[in-house]
Amino acid sequence: MFDLRSDTVTKPCDDMLKAMMAAEVGDDVFGEDPTINRLEALGAEMFGHEAGLFCPSGTMTNQIAISVHTKPGDEVICHETSHIYQYEVGGIARNSLCSVKLIDNDSAALRAEDIEENVHADYDWLARTSLVVAEDTSNRGGGKCYELEDLKKIQSACSKHGLAFHLDGARAMNAIVKKGHDSKEYGSLFDSISICLSKGLGAPVGSLLLGSKPFIKEARRRRKGMGGGMRQAGYLAEAGIFALTNNVERFKEDHDLAEIIAQKLMDCKAVTNVITPETNILLFDVDKLCEIYLERLSKEGVFGVAFGKKRIRLVTHKDIDRSRTELLLDLIERALN
Ligand SMILES: Cc1ncc(COP(=O)(O)O)c(C=O)c1O
Repeated sequence: MFDLRSDTVTKPCDDMLKAMMAAEVGDDVFGEDPTINRLEALGAEMFGHEAGLFCPSGTMTNQIAISVHTKPGDEVICHETSHIYQYEVGGIARNSLCSVKLIDNDSAALRAEDIEENVHADYDWLARTSLVVAEDTSNRGGGKCYELEDLKKIQSACSKHGLAFHLDGARAMNAIVKKGHDSKEYGSLFDSISICLSKGLGAPVGSLLLGSKPFIKEARRRRKGMGGGMRQAGYLAEAGIFALTNNVERFKEDHDLAEIIAQKLMDCKAVTNVITPETNILLFDVDKLCEIYLERLSKEGVFGVAFGKKRIRLVTHKDIDRSRTELLLDLIERALN
């Protein structure tokens, strides 16, 4: 079976499990888990930030960041496709009491002009714009990455208007590998960054929030308030350290596999459009309701998800057996022809 529903289905490999079993742990609410401290320092160091915070999920790291950067009644600028808006249970309103300005352009990515055009002037009757959130890679954008130059322009628009800039970098490591960014230069563009360890990186649980020392100090309080203070979670942090040390460079294999599948899809009769994948997320359109084709794919042992009435998403990851790539392509062809 080929489970291409998401890179979140990845499981820890034997070496990761061995490392987890040997982790040194302590009570992290007291700041005494040495492995969590090591993971937070490693993440911060990689992105040139001062401090890090280990959280149970990417939703929590994003939501904590939004709440620290804003005050109730403020407005957050993000793309209409963004995870923080689409899939975090209305968290911007629920947790931060903020409104949201959705950017709806044709690229699934923000542009500096979008900030300039949508930042509110300082009038008593307008919500105060205080935060911009970018997503790299973009999930609904088919794993698309920002160009560094475009991020720099957005960052300077943010700093011109006194706005904080947060990165939902659930898959930032995919973007870094694809674009060959220097992670410190990339990291320097954002006031805070959320990185997921439990997607393509292969750790079982966890996300890191990175930022300045005062930002992380406040984020720590909010994490506790959300029920995210963990105790001997160093076993999980050790998996994160293993993931950041061993599973980043291999992302190229996932990006290559997505491209190989995209090529095959172009030859399938049921497929009307393939969005060329940049990283490990592959979107394509079919000529009938996607449930019909998802069912046919699943009968062949290939699993994807619906991403619109006639759009399907497949995500490549480390647990797809590369020795059976030809078989995977044959099964896809059989289901979609
Ligand atoms: C772009 C993006 N951001 C944030 C998240 C949230 O991560 P989690 O599922 O750990 O809450 C996801 C999860 O799929 C995601 O794709």
